[in-house]
Amino acid sequence: MQVCVFENAAQVGKAAATLIAAQLIEKPDSVLGLATGSSPVPCYKNLIEMNRQGVVDFSRMTSYNLDEYVGIPEDHVCSYHRFMNDELFDHVNVNKANTHVPSGLAEDLDAVAAAYDEDIVKAGGIDLQLLGIGRNGHIGFNEPGDKFIPGCHVVELTQSTIEANTRFFDSEADVPRKAISLGISSIMNARKVVLIATGADKAEAVRLSVKGAVDPQVQASILRTHPNVIFLLDKAAASQL
Ligand code: F6R
Repeated sequence: MQVCVFENAAQVGKAAATLIAAQLIEKPDSVLGLATGSSPVPCYKNLIEMNRQGVVDFSRMTSYNLDEYVGIPEDHVCSYHRFMNDELFDHVNVNKANTHVPSGLAEDLDAVAAAYDEDIVKAGGIDLQLLGIGRNGHIGFNEPGDKFIPGCHVVELTQSTIEANTRFFDSEADVPRKAISLGISSIMNARKVVLIATGADKAEAVRLSVKGAVDPQVQASILRTHPNVIFLLDKAAASQL
């Protein structure tokens, strides 16, 4: 595991974008695993600029997002489908047919989850997985528990996650209670993992992931067993290391 500490979140974003750009330059038809939330926003802004400058080409890549809320329409202002369009896909030369975000609206979500995993395997697996980390150590929406769940699945969000994500909604009551998330095996099968953590509210989760035991109560701790993982941290997120 490699841990890189930067002065601030802007630098972390630039570093993450640089790694993704390098991936796409080396292998233009890469399969990217993408994340939503606040952490990757500076990274996506940098990628948009690199695409505008002709440095990064998205036309041949395929992407699979980590997760989506259950029960909100794809065009809902808080949906992760909408987030990806607003923050990245609408601004780069991506073929949207090659971008995937799991559906949180289907009647049979277990079937959606199984098909999502199969699609990733058929696409050749994820070359580079971008991750954020929850205050409780979650990756994707794999919440603290007594085991690591391997495949894509429906998750009951914990109170900590609901509170953390209330900032995107009008009120806590509006935050969906369930999500569909890639499982830990799909994340661990990625050939390279890039985790972004910025801000002091991530410091404890980062410390437990980097220095604690591998423990499903801190789902990100499993990344320590990944052969090619890099944590990109700002000083605040690294403050307990
Ligand atoms: C988002 C995701 C989550 C977030 C995490 C951190 O697709 O899977 O694990 O990465 O909740 O969220 P932010 O970056 O908003 O602090």
